[in-house]
Amino acid sequence: MQLNSAEFHLFRNNDTARLRFYDGMNLIYGDNGAGKTNVLEAIFFFAAGKSFRGSKEREMIRFGENECRIGIEFRNKNGQSELAVKLSKKEKKKIYRNGIEMTRLSGYFGQFRSVIFSPDHLDLVKGGPEERRRYLDIAICQSYPVYIAELSEFNRVLMQKNAMLRSISDDGLLDIYNEKLAETSAKITLRRRRYFELLLPFAKGIYEEMATNKEMFGCEYRTQADGNTFDELKNSYFELYSAKKEHEKERGFTLYGAHKDDFTIYINEKDARSFGSQGQQRSSVLALKLAEGEMSRSITGEYPVFLLDDVLSELDDNRKTFVLEKLKGKQVIITDCSKNTSRYNCNNKIFVENGKYRTE
Ligand SMILES: Nc1ncnc2c1ncn2[C@@H]1O[C@H](COP(=O)(O)OP(=O)(O)OP(=O)(O)O)[C@@H](O)[C@H]1O
Ligand SMILES: [Mg+2]
Repeated sequence: MQLNSAEFHLFRNNDTARLRFYDGMNLIYGDNGAGKTNVLEAIFFFAAGKSFRGSKEREMIRFGENECRIGIEFRNKNGQSELAVKLSKKEKKKIYRNGIEMTRLSGYFGQFRSVIFSPDHLDLVKGGPEERRRYLDIAICQSYPVYIAELSEFNRVLMQKNAMLRSISDDGLLDIYNEKLAETSAKITLRRRRYFELLLPFAKGIYEEMATNKEMFGCEYRTQADGNTFDELKNSYFELYSAKKEHEKERGFTLYGAHKDDFTIYINEKDARSFGSQGQQRSSVLALKLAEGEMSRSITGEYPVFLLDDVLSELDDNRKTFVLEKLKGKQVIITDCSKNTSRYNCNNKIFVENGKYRTE
């Protein structure tokens, strides 16, 4: 997978720009607030269908404007493609593939794949379960585009059941929703768990190599339902809904399902969230992110584009060398505040000032 160029028009603090990217390492540098992360946000939008910063779409439109447009041109094993998005404060967003408007999101997921590293990702270890589910969901959507439809179906049924728990007390109807939610929950849990089982050996190998085999990495996926197959999980969720019906009605929302899935990371058999040092937590995140890249390659046959937002400055020299070594030969787009760019061995350096980009 290679990103050839990205175009912006009225996106964040940018006016109009077209940036070219090449094999290997590409550096974007400039002062704080210049517009470095904005570039990665726009690129990652085509992999995840949303901002990695959790911003709303309208917030990405330049202040005072009503619409913006971003686009990328990339090459994957199927050939060269273009994707573009028009975001508007007045209309629904429009997505184009090779110039043709697409009506379904699934037509664009999985085309361009990317892994992003950001300092906020420490939340993957330190934050709540929703951060970990989000990480898995974005990774799975890129590798298995059908998952996006399964996830929206699950969210729709969950919302409907919640609305029903708060309004009517028709048990027969509730049973129908419980059956449907048990089914969609089982689908999501099973996909996440299967992905996770394949991810774990990669993450473990990478972590332990980073820690020069002095520490042991482990991970456990946790769900409320028991079972290993779709039917077992579905039955288990349904049994939970039946047994806890009164409790759920009392609380007014669904207490069991795939929206409660989580995973725990262990370093030397201790929960990294509570007992891990800063360095161990940081290494765990790096290992999971690098493992995501390996997963993407093992599923699709090619590496994704790696986007590194200001992460190297936070790492000690050993980890920095390790990460750069692991990313050798892959396409990387990296941001840095420092004007001293000589430490980067790359032939594409883009300087940013006030939303304006200049390739050196
Ligand atoms: N919708 C918007 N319209 C115009 N400008 C915006 C919008 N959203 C953010 N900005 C501006 O974009 C800039 C932030 O850009 P960005 O996050 O890319 O900076 P950065 O170069 O990554 O900085 P840092 O080194 O601090 O991370 C800020 O100056 C901010 O005010
Ligand atoms: Mg930034």
